[in-house]
Amino acid sequence: MIAAKKVEFGDFQTPLELSSEITAFLRDNGESPSVVVEPTCGLGSFITATIEAFPNTHDFYGFDINLQYVAELGRNLNQRNGRHYHIECKNFFQIDWSHFLSGLSGNLLVIGNPPWVTNSALGLLESKNLPEKTNFQGRNGFAAKTGKANFDISEWMLIKLLEALHPKKACLAMLCKTATARKALRHAWLNNLHVGKCSLHLIDAKKHFNASVEACLLVIHTGVVEKEPKAFVYTDISFRDKLSTFGITGRELVADIDEYLRLRDIDGVPYYKWRSGVKHDAASVMEFTKQGKSYINGINEQCDLESKYFFPLLKSSDLANGRLSPERFVLLTQKKPSDDTLVISTKAPKTWEYLVRHASSLDQRRSIIYEKRPRFSIFGIGEYTFSPWKVAISGLYKNSRFQVIGTFQKKPIVFDDTCCFISCQSEDEARFACELLNSDICQQFLRSLVFFDAKRPVTIDVLNRIDLKRVADRLHRQKEARKFLSDAAGFDDKQPLLVFEAKGKYTDRRIISKNSRHLLDRLTRPRKTVSANLPSAYIIPRKRTKIPA
Ligand SMILES: C[S@@+](CC[C@H](N)C(=O)[O-])C[C@H]1O[C@@H](n2cnc3c(N)ncnc32)[C@H](O)[C@@H]1O
Repeated sequence: MIAAKKVEFGDFQTPLELSSEITAFLRDNGESPSVVVEPTCGLGSFITATIEAFPNTHDFYGFDINLQYVAELGRNLNQRNGRHYHIECKNFFQIDWSHFLSGLSGNLLVIGNPPWVTNSALGLLESKNLPEKTNFQGRNGFAAKTGKANFDISEWMLIKLLEALHPKKACLAMLCKTATARKALRHAWLNNLHVGKCSLHLIDAKKHFNASVEACLLVIHTGVVEKEPKAFVYTDISFRDKLSTFGITGRELVADIDEYLRLRDIDGVPYYKWRSGVKHDAASVMEFTKQGKSYINGINEQCDLESKYFFPLLKSSDLANGRLSPERFVLLTQKKPSDDTLVISTKAPKTWEYLVRHASSLDQRRSIIYEKRPRFSIFGIGEYTFSPWKVAISGLYKNSRFQVIGTFQKKPIVFDDTCCFISCQSEDEARFACELLNSDICQQFLRSLVFFDAKRPVTIDVLNRIDLKRVADRLHRQKEARKFLSDAAGFDDKQPLLVFEAKGKYTDRRIISKNSRHLLDRLTRPRKTVSANLPSAYIIPRKRTKIPA
C-alpha cells in the first residue's frame, strides 16, 4: 500500500547531494535568482540547496500535495531567518501557473523534480493524480487506445510550466526522464514557445533514485527566442562532454541534428509499408512451444490441436539476438481483421474448443481495440502477415540490424507486436531491401533519427522515413532498385506504383489522386539545405493512372 502511494505520487525525494550539485552548477554558470519556485517540493531538497547556493535570493515558494512533507519543510525553514518562505500544501493541477508566475518579479528560477509516473500506471492504481484532460497532446482515438497517448505526468507538468513561463525571462531546471525532457521540448518547439539555451545533463538514476531509467537534469531558459530549435546533451551535470545535439526538423525530433542534415536526402518516401507484428494480448494462451506434435502453452498445458491456425513466431529478442529459427508458435485466429472466427469451429474443432476453454483470458483483454470485434480476434494482421518473405527489425533493442525472414516448416514466419517489418514477394527482393537497410549510410541515417534510450527506439514512424530508392542511389544500385522497388508494397491494400522516370512528367496534379496529393506535397516541399532534393519517384495509385509514354 505504502509502495503504491509512493508510485502514485512519484514520491522519490532527491538526495541533497544531487540537488546541491545541481544548484552549484547553475550558480557557476551564471544563475542568480531573486525568486526560487519548487512546484512539487516534497521535503524541500531543492529549496534547501538553493538557500545554500544563492545567498541573494529573497523569496522561496514550495508546493506539494503531501501535507506531512509541507508541514515538515515549513518547520525546518522557520529556523532560518532573513528570507521569505512560502510553503503550501497544493495540488499542482489546481494551481493557475500563468497567473502565479506572471505575478513574480526579478530573476526567476523554477527548479525541482516532478513525479515520474505515467498516466497508464496511475490508471492501474485507479489514481486521480492526473490533469483533468489527459489526452493533452491531441492524439487521435486509435493512438489513445493503443497506448501512444501514454505520458508521464511530469511531461504534463513541465509543459504547463513552460507555457506559463515562456513570455518572461526565467530558468527552468528539472530532473526528469530523458524521454520526458525531449517530449516537453518538442511541445515547446512545435508551439513556438520562447525557449532557448536548452541542455540535458545525464544523471545516474540508479544511483540516486534506484530507478533503471535514463534521466537527466533538463535546463531551459524562457523568454528568449532562438533561431534553431535544438538542445545539447552532456554526459553529466557540467558543460564539459557533449554527447549530441538533438532538435526538431519538420514536426519531428531527430536524435543527432548535424548527422541528420548531412543525410537528410534519405528522408523521403516509404517504398514499403512498415508494419508491426501480431497483437493478441494473451501470450499465455496464444503462444506455444512445440514438443513432438503437441503444442505447450504459456501455462504449461500440453495441447493436441490442429496445426492449421499455428504459425512460427519470432519476437524482438529473437530478432535482436539473431535467433532466426523459430522456437515458438502463435495461434492466428484470423487472416484479416474482418474474418469471422466462428469458422474455426468447423475447420479446426479442437482449436475452437481450446479457445472456448480459455475464453476467460481472451474475453477479458483490457484493450478496447477488441471491443465490437469477433470473439478471439487478434490485431495487426492482413495479407502482409502471410507473405513468404519479410525484412524485420526489433523495435525494443538498441541493435538496429535488419534480418531477412522466410518460412519455417512451410509456413510464413510471423512476429509479435514489438517487431517491425516489411513484406516481400521473393527472397531476392527481401535480401536486396535488407542490404540497403543494413548499409552504413542507412544505419547512420537511422542513428541520426532514433533515440536509442527510448523504451521503443525503432518505430514505424521512423522506418517510414527511409527512402530506399535514395539509399540505393547512394550505393549505386539503381538497377536492382528499379527491378525490386517498382513492385514494392505488393501486399498493401492500396497498391502503389513507383515511377522512376524523370520527375517533370509526373508533376501534373490532374493525374495524381487526392490520396497521393499530400504525399506529393510533402515530397515537393522545398528543403532548406539540400539543393538536389526533389523526389526521385512519385507514388501514383496503380488503377487510376495512365503512365505517360
Ligand atoms: C520526485 S518527488 C520530488 C520531491 C522534491 N521535489 C525533491 O526533489 O526531493 C515528487 C513530489 O511530487 C509530489 N506530488 C505528486 N503529485 C503531486 C501533485 N499533483 N501536486 C503537487 N505535488 C505532487 C509528491 O508528493 C513528491 O513529493
